[in-house]
Amino acid sequence: MSHSDITVGVLVGNPRPASRTATVALEVGRQVADAVGGRVGPVVDLAMHGGDVLDPDSATVQRDMELVSGVDTLVVASPTYKATYTGLLKSFFDRFGSVSLDGVVAVPVMVGGAPHHAMAGEVHLRPLLVELGAVVPTRSLYVVDSELDHLTDTVSTWLSREGASLTNAPRTAHCAGVNERGTPGDAAAPSTSKEQSCPICPAPPDGHSVRSLRSWPNSPTTPCSATSGNVVN
Ligand SMILES: Cc1cc2nc3c(=O)[nH]c(=O)nc-3n(C[C@H](O)[C@H](O)[C@H](O)COP(=O)(O)O)c2cc1C
Repeated sequence: MSHSDITVGVLVGNPRPASRTATVALEVGRQVADAVGGRVGPVVDLAMHGGDVLDPDSATVQRDMELVSGVDTLVVASPTYKATYTGLLKSFFDRFGSVSLDGVVAVPVMVGGAPHHAMAGEVHLRPLLVELGAVVPTRSLYVVDSELDHLTDTVSTWLSREGASLTNAPRTAHCAGVNERGTPGDAAAPSTSKEQSCPICPAPPDGHSVRSLRSWPNSPTTPCSATSGNVVN
């Protein structure tokens, strides 16, 4: 996989469409993609679903669950509501199994009106992403509304501190956890489009398949099963 195949997905958890949070999320996605040599996409704005995130039969929500769990890096952005992320974002993620983001490098981003809620990304959003299996190598980015008129600089200042953590993130695709995805109760069954054989591991363990291969800059060339940044329960 060439670096240009690295996908940087963007998930926006704001019930309001065309939000400032979406603007911030896309700017972070653009700069992160530049930093890792990847490309932005898919972009999922939960405002498009509204209450359908609670509908287990919604095919469009199901499709977006599969999209966001299939990327290499996922920017997850939420406005700050009552000092935490939105109920909409939580409702969306409540549908995921506990390893649905296994192998995904997640970047927590929150936007808020109050500087004193700046830890919300670290205290609330990070644990949610880790619970879903994501690796979260950077500090969260918190953007205050008043910083939006110099958003490009705000994001690039954050990325200048955190970019190394991102580009040095362990290659998290591995054989061991893959069979956990798509098990009963795990609504976010993986797409098979990224499945391929692993050039490092001679063969996946019995009953396992290799979900995807990541070629991050500086990634270790040890067998997949040894490179996970996650604990697979
Ligand atoms: C219901 C609601 C609750 C909010 N609670 C907080 C809060 O606790 N802390 C804060 O910093 N901002 C809070 N805000 C402000 C938003 O997080 C902030 O304006 C953010 O930029 C949302 O902008 P957007 O909807 O255009 O993305 C709240 C806004 C709303 C609508």
